[in-house]
Amino acid sequence: MTTNVILLGPPGAGKGTQAKTLAERTSLSHVASGDLFRAALREGTELGMLAKSYMDRGELVPDEVVINMILERIQAPDCLAGVIFDGFPRTREQAVALGESLAAHDGKIDAVLYLSVPNEVLLRRIAGRQTCKTCGATYNIYYFPSHRPGICDACGGKLYQRSDDSMETAQHRLDVYFEQTMPLIEYYQRQGILHEIDGQREITWVNEEMLKALSQYLVTSPQPEE
Ligand code: AP5
Repeated sequence: MTTNVILLGPPGAGKGTQAKTLAERTSLSHVASGDLFRAALREGTELGMLAKSYMDRGELVPDEVVINMILERIQAPDCLAGVIFDGFPRTREQAVALGESLAAHDGKIDAVLYLSVPNEVLLRRIAGRQTCKTCGATYNIYYFPSHRPGICDACGGKLYQRSDDSMETAQHRLDVYFEQTMPLIEYYQRQGILHEIDGQREITWVNEEMLKALSQYLVTSPQPEE
């Protein structure tokens, strides 16, 4: 059975953090539009360069570009059991395109998990985020720093701050979220598949709430040891 889940929420809400653990505890693949763009940039592709010009300004990459990239990605064999969408869809056009594409293959979005977090917390989380260049693990200098500054606990890789995590760009990303992505909350609420989760709580609590919301669709494995 295929299960498709969207993690919806503002920048810094914890979508990436939660999606990684959910993917480890289920058979679903984690598909993150921002990660795909950053990977394309590292590879020096045209797509990566195009995306960077929008990401650095905190603007959304044009719908047609994102839609094509994601719809192609979910054709891969690792997505057969289902997908956790992180950062996609972000506009009504993207949501409609995703719904139509899944329907064409007898699929659908089963659940949308909306992480709500107050603005001031989001800005602090974004400003404090550090990501491992090698394995992608995420830390936060305010909430849970790595044991050795600038070094990943998991793999020893170097930690970096994303170029779009400056205060000015982060504030603009939030404005773009309120204007273009927030309407999706009502869009999915009307479909009866939206679950709101308090994203301000600790990471493990949020993860358990998400699994509860998904329990009717999924077989899960226990929480991995810290
Ligand atoms: P993207 O990479 O998707 O970024 P985002 O949506 O802005 O989300 P973030 O990655 O900032 O936050 P998150 O919710 O994943 O939080 P995280 O788990 O890291 O997009 C970047 C750009 O790409 C966009 O601006 C746009 O230009 C482009 N783009 C991407 N998708 C697009 C699309 N569909 N359409 C058009 N353009 C697109 O957590 C944040 C921090 O908080 C971390 O340090 C983490 O450790 C910490 N944290 C997490 N949870 C908790 C908790 N419960 N308590 C304390 N700290 C926590």
